[in-house]
Amino acid sequence: MKILVTGGLGFIGSHTVVELQNEGFEVVIIDDCSNSSEKVLEGISSISGKMPIFEKIDLKEKAKVEDFFKRHQDVQGVIHFAASKAVGESVQKPLLYYENNIGTLVYLLKELSKKDNASFIFSSSCTVYGQADEMPISEKAPVKPAESPYGNTKQMGEEIIRDTCAVNPKLKAIALRYFNPMGAHPSGSIGELPIGVPQNLVPFITQTGMGLREELSVFGDDYPTEDGTCIRDYIYVVDLAKAHVKALQRLLGGKNQDNYEVFNLGTGKGSSVLEVIHSFERVSGKKLNYKIVDRRAGDIVSAYADTKKANDVLGWKSQYTLDEAMKSAWEWEQKVRA
Ligand code: WQD
Repeated sequence: MKILVTGGLGFIGSHTVVELQNEGFEVVIIDDCSNSSEKVLEGISSISGKMPIFEKIDLKEKAKVEDFFKRHQDVQGVIHFAASKAVGESVQKPLLYYENNIGTLVYLLKELSKKDNASFIFSSSCTVYGQADEMPISEKAPVKPAESPYGNTKQMGEEIIRDTCAVNPKLKAIALRYFNPMGAHPSGSIGELPIGVPQNLVPFITQTGMGLREELSVFGDDYPTEDGTCIRDYIYVVDLAKAHVKALQRLLGGKNQDNYEVFNLGTGKGSSVLEVIHSFERVSGKKLNYKIVDRRAGDIVSAYADTKKANDVLGWKSQYTLDEAMKSAWEWEQKVRA
């Protein structure tokens, strides 16, 4: 069965391609390589033993999207990762985000709406909850006004899919709201490849550990948490990838209750910034160079997932600990810099 993975050369996309191949799916990747490299294909095939079909297409080009689906009429499902995802950049360049994250989604959904039966998995984010009122955060928590155009594109994306599914019973969709993905494949063949200065905590830590960065700035230790630093739910990327396969199999197997469903994907455990730093120090045996600085604008205090729905309904649960995920991130950083 052929599955299209858009953004399949990216961090979560590439790990999901491997898990799909391990389950026997035939995978075709669309990626515009704006934030990834074709070299990732070697990493994927070195793990799974299978080279996915790859087409370098900019999904903003409607005619190219239409042509792709004419040539690949046997695509049964789509997992849609391709999107711009830097929160700060989205504030500076909102139209780039609305065009790239929303325009492309509309083109994909128009093509899928022409098919007799289509399954669609959407890469969403816990960012849609903003600062939730209750921890852990369940799918029933209200979606709050987005704090960035990036976050808004995830909220709007979910609404566009929901509205499309409401008038198209042949289209089945699941939105997966990720908490904080981290780590790298245990083989060391694929991992996170942030371009430029990493915005996210874990790659900044591992680059500091390698001496690529002078020191980590901890954005505030005066939050109302045990150690004063923000809490997040750091989920291992391989766990996250496996959840995508489970979600796709739910739709392909017709097990879905509604034709639009939402699942939170996290470990259910919150970790503070200092706890993540200590995890790195445990797994690397190195002291991390860091300093406490002012809070980062837009940061929420705490977010970690209520994983009951994904556990019970998807039959998926994260398997790896923070230290195991951090060890994979550290090993990957050392390999990439070797
Ligand atoms: C985590 C914690 C920072 C860097 C973002 C997006 C979210 C998703 C994941 C795409 C926070 C602190 C960070 C640093 C620090 N992206 N931190 N020093 O902000 O929870 O989520 O990335 O889907 O949508 O919002 O992740 O890794 O940036 O920050 O102290 O150099 O680490 O303040 O508390 P975040 P993050």
